[in-house]
Amino acid sequence: MSEIFTPEDLQTVTRVMRKRRTFKVMGDVDTPVQIDAATAEKNRAILLESVKSADSAPFHYDRQCENVPQPWRVDILWHDSCQKVASNFYRWFDDVKPGNKLPSMLSACGACVLVSWLPQFPNSASQDEGESILPKTKQIQIDQEHLAAASAYVQNLMLLLTAANMGTYWSSGGQFRTREMMDRLSMAAPRQLLAAVFVEFPESNASDVQRVPGKLAQARANPDRWLNIVQL
Ligand SMILES: Cc1cc2nc3c(=O)[nH]c(=O)nc-3n(C[C@H](O)[C@H](O)[C@H](O)COP(=O)(O)O)c2cc1C
Repeated sequence: MSEIFTPEDLQTVTRVMRKRRTFKVMGDVDTPVQIDAATAEKNRAILLESVKSADSAPFHYDRQCENVPQPWRVDILWHDSCQKVASNFYRWFDDVKPGNKLPSMLSACGACVLVSWLPQFPNSASQDEGESILPKTKQIQIDQEHLAAASAYVQNLMLLLTAANMGTYWSSGGQFRTREMMDRLSMAAPRQLLAAVFVEFPESNASDVQRVPGKLAQARANPDRWLNIVQL
């Protein structure tokens, strides 16, 4: 393979990867973070480009859904839509406890990127082989690899956004995972939410937001605890 990249390129990629860290940014639903039109436009263009570039993630199986081989789908809510979800949240979900973090995060972010994966085999974890001619173990493997590929997509995206000096937080999504929310956002089945990525734009210097790091950020064990060089 010919040399395309310099050692500095490798250093840059490593630096971006190490710099990526979760920050949950929470604001106030009644006084959401304001983003001016020029800032919004500039960052939306960068984010859209990143969403497209992240598509270089590897994928093992052709998902064959709507003639699209990739097993991921992406839905973007810009900050005005995020704030609409935040202000309607307790009306749409009257069974949710007060203090739920989603409305405050939606009030503070520049965008929320919803990444879904597309399971191919219904109930692939059950014993029933369903209508597929494939054995259950193969069905499970294919679905696991669709999910793994979509995860690679999410990490690609977060690294690109980190390199653009944007803050990111991979959330499981809470109510975004529900069919009710997906219907409201016109997210058709068989999407299954994998990540609600909350994005903070670099210019956001709102002082009245709270920034909380990921709870496992400091919990990593050293590589010698999980790395094994196989000697034969
Ligand atoms: C699949 C996945 C789902 C996650 N969902 C949540 C979540 O719902 N709530 C949360 O606080 N953090 C969530 N996180 C972020 C982790 O808390 C965070 O990555 C971890 O604490 C390590 O911190 P770091 O990202 O700064 O390295 C999720 C991460 C992954 C990979």
